[in-house]
Amino acid sequence: MSWIREGELSLLERLTANVLKAGPMPKHVAFIMDGNRRYAQKRHVERQEGHTQGFDKLAETLRWCLNLGIHEVTVYAFSIENFKRSKEEVGGLMELAKEKFLRLLDEQCFLNVCFAYTSRHEIANAVKEMAWGVEQGLIKSSDVSEALLNECLYTSSSPNPDLLIRTSGEVRLSDFLLWQTSHSCIVFQSILWPEYSFWNLCEAILQYQQNHHAIQKAREVHREGQAVQQLESDHSCVAELLQHRGNGKPVDPQCRQTALQSYAASREERVQRFIGALQQKRDTFFDHLLSPTAVA
Ligand code: FPP
Ligand code: MG
Repeated sequence: MSWIREGELSLLERLTANVLKAGPMPKHVAFIMDGNRRYAQKRHVERQEGHTQGFDKLAETLRWCLNLGIHEVTVYAFSIENFKRSKEEVGGLMELAKEKFLRLLDEQCFLNVCFAYTSRHEIANAVKEMAWGVEQGLIKSSDVSEALLNECLYTSSSPNPDLLIRTSGEVRLSDFLLWQTSHSCIVFQSILWPEYSFWNLCEAILQYQQNHHAIQKAREVHREGQAVQQLESDHSCVAELLQHRGNGKPVDPQCRQTALQSYAASREERVQRFIGALQQKRDTFFDHLLSPTAVA
């Protein structure tokens, strides 16, 4: 039997879920699951028990999400900073991950687990990937844009989260999805992660619904701004090209428009070729990482 689908919502929970579902629902929710150790201390149990209960809470939360029609969830399971914790705690978390990851893979829901992750590292890596593309002659430096950087992030195949929830009363993002959450509703809740309840999740969704209009508006304004930026960049590249070709002679508007269209099409072609090459580079890296000779 499925581990996430086990257990039903109570009648009251189902009723509340239906009321919430009448409003705009987040499609993608991200969690910073914080407070496992404080929970362990509060309950006078071992630290590792706090993390184990934190994992069980994740399974329960995924079930609530499925019941609420939320089909994509991203969690911050382990940050690069967490490697600074005691050897014993890091070892315990790694064991937990090893044991539980296989179980997660068996599930049919869309869960992204950020492990040994920080957002600034991800953004810096995306910049390096674009520099590599320019170096390889796959793209031009003028092709570098916000949209292209977005394509180079690890999360490029997912839509940005609509809602980000952090538990335990900490009001920081702690280097989690900094780029992806600029137009997300961010909810900080004081509850410790292992104590998270269905009602806490409903409260966060309600906050999302109350802010939905402003969030959508901000996204729209950003999208429009990006399109204008791209057009301006294409215009200036085409102007430079035409000036170079025509030795500075004036160009008629029809000819300029045709040149602009063909430039945009060739830029798109370069970008797609670069994204394909990048994907191939990543696949080779993972193949190498998983090959038995890499371990030896
Ligand atoms: C934050 O609480 C939690 C973590 C650093 C680990 C999160 C991991 C899990 C919930 C389980 C493993 C998950 C997977 C997907 C394998 P904290 O340790 O910072 O506690 P504190 O804030 O009270 O100190
Ligand atoms: Mg913490």
